[in-house]
Amino acid sequence: MSAEAVVTAQQLTKIYAGHGKRGDAVVAAHEISFTLYAGEILGLIGESGSGKTTIGRLLTGIEKPTTGSLQWSSAFASGHGQVQMVFQDPYAALNPFNPIRYTLTRPLINFRHLSPAEALDQARTLLTTVQLTPPDQFLVKRPHQLSGGQRQRIVIARALAASPQVIVADEPVSMLDVSIRAEVLQLLRKLMVTGQVASILYITHDLMSARSLAQRVIVLYRGRMVEVAKTGDLLANPRHPYTQMLFASIPNPRRAFRGEALPIPVSGSLAPSSATGCPFAPRCPWVEEACQQTAPRLEPLPDGRLVSCHVVTRTATDGQDASKVAQPRTTTP
Ligand SMILES: Nc1ncnc2c1ncn2[C@@H]1O[C@H](COP(=O)(O)OP(=O)(O)OP(=O)(O)O)[C@@H](O)[C@H]1O
Ligand SMILES: [Mg+2]
Repeated sequence: MSAEAVVTAQQLTKIYAGHGKRGDAVVAAHEISFTLYAGEILGLIGESGSGKTTIGRLLTGIEKPTTGSLQWSSAFASGHGQVQMVFQDPYAALNPFNPIRYTLTRPLINFRHLSPAEALDQARTLLTTVQLTPPDQFLVKRPHQLSGGQRQRIVIARALAASPQVIVADEPVSMLDVSIRAEVLQLLRKLMVTGQVASILYITHDLMSARSLAQRVIVLYRGRMVEVAKTGDLLANPRHPYTQMLFASIPNPRRAFRGEALPIPVSGSLAPSSATGCPFAPRCPWVEEACQQTAPRLEPLPDGRLVSCHVVTRTATDGQDASKVAQPRTTTP
């Protein structure tokens, strides 16, 4: 990609200390490295607990990494609130007692130091940007007087009030009515296209919404990046066994696979069989000796994607397709 880098995450690791007597430490994010480019919507996909929100929070700076750092490109390093986050639940994100006028003007007055009159004017502009018109009708409302979709538009408007370079949208439509999800995603896309924000990190567990929105996708598994690819490449040919599993769980008969469909994961312990092995080994149908011994690193494939899998790397070097070569595990672990 020739686009300009906005921010680069370098080896971000976040470890939460265990709580209580037998609380184990949680590695919520492990050596996460990626660049967010200008004009890009980057998807971050993974199951619950895979570290999506943690990475989003690390990007905003709300959360400090245990190790690793963020590098902002100088052109994007200024900005009032460089990164703003839009959360899943717009109702929880808004103070129920405050009218929208207060919600939107307060950050403009406090952080951008506008006069109350300028702030009110700007609040009207923001409401128009998020397609809540006529704006004066919405300024006087409180959250409970709005629909879920309207509330999420207010949350987006408030995020924009900080003139961010980047928006981290963390499952922004999963609590909204199915019928209005597409509109809110369309609004996010529009913010990018019109240059209101430089880039968006779009967090979701729903592969199909990432397909419509993101140009590139990072697939996470238990705090690690397992595959990074252009969305089209990923959909056409998922390479990491976990990505294949994610895809196999989506009922879409039109989707064609190059390889064999993988079995749906069995329940049981998800702990790696050894502390040093591949974290996905306990669920992996292709698991082999090497996977128990060392954790794979992200390696580039000829098409430019990155995959963290011993079997994929080995077979790609041989010019083979892992799913055709690997011996599917026949015994249930
Ligand atoms: N503040 C915290 N203290 C301790 N552990 C935490 C904290 N925040 C997250 N975790 C743990 O870190 C891991 C990753 O959590 P995270 O919320 O980032 O996952 P997620 O992918 O966003 O999940 P979901 O899809 O459910 O939102 C989980 O095991 C979670 O329990
Ligand atoms: Mg989350």
